Amino acid sequence: MKIKHSIYTLALAGIAFGMASCGASGDHPGYEYAPQMYNSVAYEPLTQIVNEEEGSWLSTREDGKGEFFNSNINNPHRMNMREPVEGTVPRTKDGSLPYRLKAFELEEAATIPNPVELSDQVIAQGKVLYQQYCSTCHGPNGEGDGKAGEVVGGVANLKGGAYIDLPEGHIFHVIMKGKGRMGAHGSQISQERIWKIVHYVKQEIQKQ
Ligand code: HEC
Repeated sequence: MKIKHSIYTLALAGIAFGMASCGASGDHPGYEYAPQMYNSVAYEPLTQIVNEEEGSWLSTREDGKGEFFNSNINNPHRMNMREPVEGTVPRTKDGSLPYRLKAFELEEAATIPNPVELSDQVIAQGKVLYQQYCSTCHGPNGEGDGKAGEVVGGVANLKGGAYIDLPEGHIFHVIMKGKGRMGAHGSQISQERIWKIVHYVKQEIQKQ
């Protein structure tokens, strides 16, 4: 009976010690239980472990490699994520090609036709966008009399003689890249929306 008792005590002490020694404290990071749960065996595009031995001490992999080996042997340089095919052109979030013209290439930009088909709905959308992004400076009717424009100064009157005949590509480019005292809006408005604003400026503001 006494022996049984001391075995119990010993076993309990052993379990308590075992549990306490797993915990992290001070400089000791602690031990991981079943590390496979934390170190995913899925291909990870941004990390790559090329050493086939790494983690072999606990490996259960069928290919016999270390548990942490994380490289795609079918890809060049064993990369997990393949590089895009040569000549691949990235698309912007809205699916359009990136706009590559530089701020000074205004003349070339002026020849670009408006790719957004004109419709009443597009003009209505362009109007809302114009009010959001442009009217603060250019005023509700494009006459250069917006409140913020008073501070900026020198805001173009879009109904004025010099601006009436501006090609659509020119207006698009100015919104995208800015010009003189007007800042670039390309990072804030998608290309498609800018073209809608251009339709509104041409069809409503400059036709009145
Ligand atoms: C922060 C004020 C401000 C905002 C916002 C603004 N503009 Fe301008 N815009 C200006 C100023 C100032 C000029 C005159 C630029 C210069 O020549 O120095 C100008 C010039 C222009 C011109 C004439 C370009 C040229 O070739 O001379 C157009 C067209 C134009 N803006 C359209 C727009 C449209 C459309 C929007 C909305 C997407 C917009 N602007 C937003 C201040 C602004």
